[in-house]
Amino acid sequence: MQTVTDAAALRATVRGWRSAGQNVGFVPTMGNLHAGHHSLLKLARARADRVVASVFVNPTQFGPGEDFERYPRTLAQDQAGLAEAGCDVLFAPDVSTLYPFGAGASVSIHVPVITDTLEGAHRPGHFDGVATVVAKLFSLVQPDLAVFGQKDFQQLKVIERMVADLSLSVKVMSAPTLRDDDGLALSSRNQYLSPQERARAPQIHATLVQMKDLFAQGHSWQALEQAARARLERAGFVPDYVAIRRADDLAEPAPEQREGLIALVAARLGGTRLIDNLVFD
Ligand code: PAF
Repeated sequence: MQTVTDAAALRATVRGWRSAGQNVGFVPTMGNLHAGHHSLLKLARARADRVVASVFVNPTQFGPGEDFERYPRTLAQDQAGLAEAGCDVLFAPDVSTLYPFGAGASVSIHVPVITDTLEGAHRPGHFDGVATVVAKLFSLVQPDLAVFGQKDFQQLKVIERMVADLSLSVKVMSAPTLRDDDGLALSSRNQYLSPQERARAPQIHATLVQMKDLFAQGHSWQALEQAARARLERAGFVPDYVAIRRADDLAEPAPEQREGLIALVAARLGGTRLIDNLVFD
């Protein structure tokens, strides 16, 4: 596996693949890779002749007081894991490659409406940073397909919307959330949890499963949101939101809607903010 840090080298490599008739899959990441990321790589590997992964801790998607500084940076470890997972090129740019005029002076992409709610409401500007960096990465990598995790469900929807609205010629694919045996969704941020918090963290998934089961038994989604929030609070979480939404656009469902829904949770446990979701099939 080749590691490249500059845009020209990346473009030259991708151009070579294209002239040999090969298509390109892309997995953008912020590094500190775990089995969840490797499952994205595996999907890209299965669908494309060549695979590029990026590792870039994107400053514009972190708000003031968030964990940009302490976000785990483990490039050597990531390189080894990506090589093993069959990645062809790791693109690991520095900030000036992606933000040549400075992160604060960048063109910014705002995907309206779908970003007004949930994560977008609690992390103002977050999705502008995500959409902007993903658009920049797409422009540099020029992938045929790109793979995102379903754990960041709203992010996935924002990227799909951006790609459709800007008519970008990249197919957006997604891979299911990977979980530890006790149900906790894999996340680089899990390592911030103390042992006591780690023991409590699977309550989020357990709560989502309970919501899904009770919904299947006929409970209203409004009542389930309230009960789930109370359950998480009793378990020591501080929820930002516990919501049941339409899975296609994350808008509030009609009171009688029973199909096409998803439950989403964001909650703090001590100093760690965890998110998870579960589609109601
Ligand atoms: O999901 C992530 O790791 C990031 O939000 C992404 C898509 C790599 C953009 O920085």
